[in-house]
Amino acid sequence: MQGDIIYNQILNSIKPSEEERKVLLSFSDKLRNIILDYAKEKNVTIDCRLVGSMAKKTSLIDKADFDIFMTFPLDYSEEELKEYGLEFGQYCINVVGGESEKRYASHPYITGLIDGFEVDFVPCYNIKDANELKSAVDRTILHTDYVQSHLTDEEADQVLLLKKFMSSINTYGANYKVSGFSGYLCELLILEYHTFENVITNAANNWHNKFEIDLEEYGTCSNYKDPLIVIDPVDKNRNVAAALSMQKFSEFIVASRNYLKNPSEDYFEDKHVKTSVDEIIHEFNKRQTKCYVLSFNVPKLPTDVIYPQVNKTMKSLEKVSKMYDFRLLEKGYYISSDNVAHILLEYEVDKLSNVKIHHGPLVQDANNSINFKNKYPNAYIHNNKWISLTNRKYITVQDMITNIFKKENMSILKLGKNIKEEILNKYFFEEVTEYIKSENTEDLSNIYMHLYPNFKLER
Ligand code: CTP
Ligand code: MG
Repeated sequence: MQGDIIYNQILNSIKPSEEERKVLLSFSDKLRNIILDYAKEKNVTIDCRLVGSMAKKTSLIDKADFDIFMTFPLDYSEEELKEYGLEFGQYCINVVGGESEKRYASHPYITGLIDGFEVDFVPCYNIKDANELKSAVDRTILHTDYVQSHLTDEEADQVLLLKKFMSSINTYGANYKVSGFSGYLCELLILEYHTFENVITNAANNWHNKFEIDLEEYGTCSNYKDPLIVIDPVDKNRNVAAALSMQKFSEFIVASRNYLKNPSEDYFEDKHVKTSVDEIIHEFNKRQTKCYVLSFNVPKLPTDVIYPQVNKTMKSLEKVSKMYDFRLLEKGYYISSDNVAHILLEYEVDKLSNVKIHHGPLVQDANNSINFKNKYPNAYIHNNKWISLTNRKYITVQDMITNIFKKENMSILKLGKNIKEEILNKYFFEEVTEYIKSENTEDLSNIYMHLYPNFKLER
């Protein structure tokens, strides 16, 4: 046991009690039976299973969502699966009086908000082996079986500690926004290392780029080049850690080291930013950079659709800025709860000279020397080369942005598919110190995280 940390106390606050678990399971049985009865009525032969963390005793109490999978025989078409899946899910939600929302994974599925719980109703094929895989969600059944038959109850508790730690330091979740560790990956880490502390200790001391974990000894690690390679025990051709970014891999290693150095229960609680407009302005003034915030609306699309587009837009802005000699010190983006994207562009300088050096041919190259001199009458000699001073297209960042966001110039940028129109419609581009004067705590904390990216990794 690390320091004085009392893991049982932490578990008490993050793990559903026996009674709570009974209630949760009977709730899911009720939903499953509604679907099974309805399918029988319609002569569709399916099974209906609770899968995901709830089925594996690895769901955190405050994130108790249900994954209910309808498993179809392999001779049903994908079209039938999709239609029945949506119909059965919707039927069940209607019967219990919940709200529904259509979502997309590898195929569309329906989510219900029922009695305050989020319930995913997902159709999949009833496969027994990864060879039979028809869509990515089919693996989930195999994952659930594998974890249920290999993870002990004590280890399930260790998964909860790991998930909670990961959540607090913001490395939990395989969605694009976080690009961190999925729930299933946490389970496999515990199967490999058995305890939370052992995962932390190994990450802190032994993990390196392309670190390999191969529980079933398939020997397929060398097929992958990711920061962390964890071969799926139910599918030798999948790296469970494929969605983990180098950034989050590194952050987890550093947070693990921090924890071992100074173990504290605080690592199992969210760390909230406390700051003020004045503090942020002061920090930027100390940096003497020119940080701008570009804000524009984004359509209400799934986060895994919209985040990559905003990221692409930010990277394109960085590239175009560089082309015009405006170098970025740092950059970042976030999407606020009112569906506005904010891209932070922190420049070293935002104003350049009127002229820049344009390199011409070697003096010894007579023909090109004449051409260059004709084109640039003021060209002069520098060592063995011709040089000319040419006027810059843009001498301020503000000027550059205003121009490249005009419809006729926009082709220079590679914007996300749904973003071009939004920017053409309306955008704001302000210095951060002006921008935050009028803004709320959500913006303050996101901009603070830009200044202190390590904030969540230590307590
Ligand atoms: N799954 C997966 N890879 C992902 C996302 C999901 O393999 N990137 C599968 C896993 O088998 C997972 C199941 O889909 O168990 C359900 O997904 P999700 O609800 O995201 O994960 P849980 O394991 O249920 O964890 P959580 O406690 O976060 O809900
Ligand atoms: Mg889940």
